[in-house]
Amino acid sequence: MSSSYHFTVIALLFCVFLLGGGSLCRGQLTPTFYNETCPYVSSIVRGVIAEALQCDPRIGASLIRLHFHDCFVDGCDGSILLNNSDTIESEKEAAPNNNSVRGFGVVDDIKTALESACPGIVSCADILAIAAEESVSLAGGPSWKVLLGRRDGTTANRTGANVALPGPFETLDVLKSKFLDVGLNTTDLVALSGAHTFGRAQCVSFRTRLYNFNGTGNPDPTLNSTYLQTLQGICPENGTGIELTNLDLTTPDAFDSCYFSNLQSNKGLLQSDQELFSTSGADTVDIVNYFSAYQYAFFVSFVEAMIKMGNISRVNRNRRTN
Ligand code: HEM
Repeated sequence: MSSSYHFTVIALLFCVFLLGGGSLCRGQLTPTFYNETCPYVSSIVRGVIAEALQCDPRIGASLIRLHFHDCFVDGCDGSILLNNSDTIESEKEAAPNNNSVRGFGVVDDIKTALESACPGIVSCADILAIAAEESVSLAGGPSWKVLLGRRDGTTANRTGANVALPGPFETLDVLKSKFLDVGLNTTDLVALSGAHTFGRAQCVSFRTRLYNFNGTGNPDPTLNSTYLQTLQGICPENGTGIELTNLDLTTPDAFDSCYFSNLQSNKGLLQSDQELFSTSGADTVDIVNYFSAYQYAFFVSFVEAMIKMGNISRVNRNRRTN
């Protein structure tokens, strides 16, 4: 009897065992999930995003962020899309999302296009996962086979969103810990932060760095002085805070490794970005240097981390891996 036969039998027994109580096997995602029922799902999603990009060059960035904020809160179940109701306190209004996440209209357009091509087939959680991949690829980044078959949740978790989503003023240790909570390691953290290679941020997300960093009365010392002046021009100390600027000052709408070279020249926009490179002795510094030098390595790690992030489910939240 071959060893592969043994492996199969053991794997099946393992699945049967797990099915007894909260299965992992039952929820297995696969890239072929819609092959028979909606074979053109990816190109339909891509087409709607390509159209939207014509008048909104930021939309791809906004869509990948929706997938990230969906997955970090009780897994990728589409719950970020749910509105308030008698029984639902929406995640949309959690602090990290409120007046910040966007792209819901384009998600609706995608859903409409898919309902007309294959009614009642594609989950909203899968739409977000495919939209994330297509957005990266349309911006010049890597493409990959998206694992599919997620079920949409019927509840939202606003408190969970407030707790689980990382914030721009958090320390590297806290960021690492929030990623570890959903099974993502330090390399995943650095690679996924590379999504800040496109998109925009509002001044409220980084303004404390410009004037009174940590109550010192001075700007963040890890901010390049020319870049500091530019940002002060965009974000006056007493401005509204909703002014926008590019997360990647070099190539704002392209998916490339410039995010990492920006960090090397102290031109990361968010405190949480710059910490990956400027926290002394941190193990993230070498990873930033590596991704900056080898864009291909960044792409490979990014894809791996996106697939891991897309696999987060309610069951495996809090599962810590190395
Ligand atoms: C490491 C922890 C992270 C923190 C603290 C963080 C924080 C933020 C903040 C504060 C903004 C700007 C929001 C605003 O000003 O309205 C932002 C934007 C963005 N984030 Fe993150 N983020 C993190 C990780 C990620 C990850 C893992 C992804 C995707 C894989 C991602 C994708 C994006 C994108 C694409 C934008 C721009 C969105 C747009 O233009 O609409 N971020 N992030």
